[in-house]
Amino acid sequence: MTTYSVVDLIRAKRAGQTLNSDQIRWLIRAYTDGVVADEQMSAMAMAVFFRGLDDDELSTWTTAMIESGERMKLTGLSRPTVDKHSTGGVGDKITLPLAPLVAACGAAVPQLSGRGLGHTGGTLDKMEAIAGWRADLSRDEMVAQLNTVGAVICAAGPGLAPADKKLYALRDVTGTVESIPLIASSIMSKKIAEGTDSLVLDVKTGSGAFMKTEKDARELARRLVSLGEAAGVRTTALLTRMDVPLGYACGNGIEVAEALEVLSGGGPADVVDLTVALARQMVKAAGLDDTDPADLLTSGKAMDVWRDMVRAQGGDPDAPLPVARHAQDVITPEAGVVTGIDAMSVGVAAWRLGAGRTRKEDPVQASAGVMLRVRPGDRVVAGQPVATLLTDTPDVIPSAQEALANAFTIGADFQPRDIVIDTIGY
Ligand code: URA
Repeated sequence: MTTYSVVDLIRAKRAGQTLNSDQIRWLIRAYTDGVVADEQMSAMAMAVFFRGLDDDELSTWTTAMIESGERMKLTGLSRPTVDKHSTGGVGDKITLPLAPLVAACGAAVPQLSGRGLGHTGGTLDKMEAIAGWRADLSRDEMVAQLNTVGAVICAAGPGLAPADKKLYALRDVTGTVESIPLIASSIMSKKIAEGTDSLVLDVKTGSGAFMKTEKDARELARRLVSLGEAAGVRTTALLTRMDVPLGYACGNGIEVAEALEVLSGGGPADVVDLTVALARQMVKAAGLDDTDPADLLTSGKAMDVWRDMVRAQGGDPDAPLPVARHAQDVITPEAGVVTGIDAMSVGVAAWRLGAGRTRKEDPVQASAGVMLRVRPGDRVVAGQPVATLLTDTPDVIPSAQEALANAFTIGADFQPRDIVIDTIGY
């Protein structure tokens, strides 16, 4: 492979030039091997942030990230594989009811998940609130569980797209996360390397999402879908709202509890609607659309799979979830109708309470978070609690209160909107 000067490549991208396929493949290889330093890759990420990547550059960048590690083959399974990935939001516990629900419909759901960083929570942090539950599985354990139970939620091994692991950590500390091509290559390198037959993406837009505008979210969805299709993965994206947190619970253990309500046939309407909408797309992509997932939530079949899935990974589905040692209500001074609850503010408050981490190696509190007491459209009176702050470390409560200072908007009227805005692809 030709060797390039990384400084020349940074200058070229900074000037808005297109990088050729050799240059991109060398760059990703050299960065993974430590030949290109973090500070050089940071400058390149910032150049891409401002100048973008065209479709050919993005396709090569993604392929190079896949080739930085192993490509899993999920062969030997008796069921079609289908996965989902969310671009990240506040209160997003959808994977928890969704994976067992789609498995109950007959698919194999290999849900390789991450831990939370910043204001968005991570699925593994939520699952680890369950006593005994283990995130690290070998490939053989994962395949065996997909055959027996049908669903696995586990950590991606270190061999899967290692270039993304390095680059994502770097982007997180250099203000370069919110770039459409960098997000698209990050997500799709992992999902293509994982070896799923089909994929449904939940691309979020709004204050609690990386994509603040619908226009940007549509462009991200288009690029994600075209990368998936080009790699032979049947890919669809749902464009969904993330102005308001999903459901009432924003934390780790409290989100598990809310997911259990959904698996029991109840739960908040937005969480149920999004779970069912994604499940319908997933069963369609897997060619299993004679079953309506909504029926399996009410029949208890999805809950049976959840219990098997938790047990298979060492967890006790009947163990009580952790309870925070301190609880403090947030009171509204105004009367009227709740017209908005800012997702970003709630995410930051939950993070400050201990539900999230600042550095990769930090622990999280399983019981911390924000439990909303109202949803948009609810009528409130002055002095009513609109949320409860939960934590084991009460000294952080004032900073969480500060994050929520302008989170609730109270007005006269609220027009409900569907959570799913559009479907892109397939
Ligand atoms: N999720 C990812 O996996 N990567 C990103 O860049 C953003 C969200």
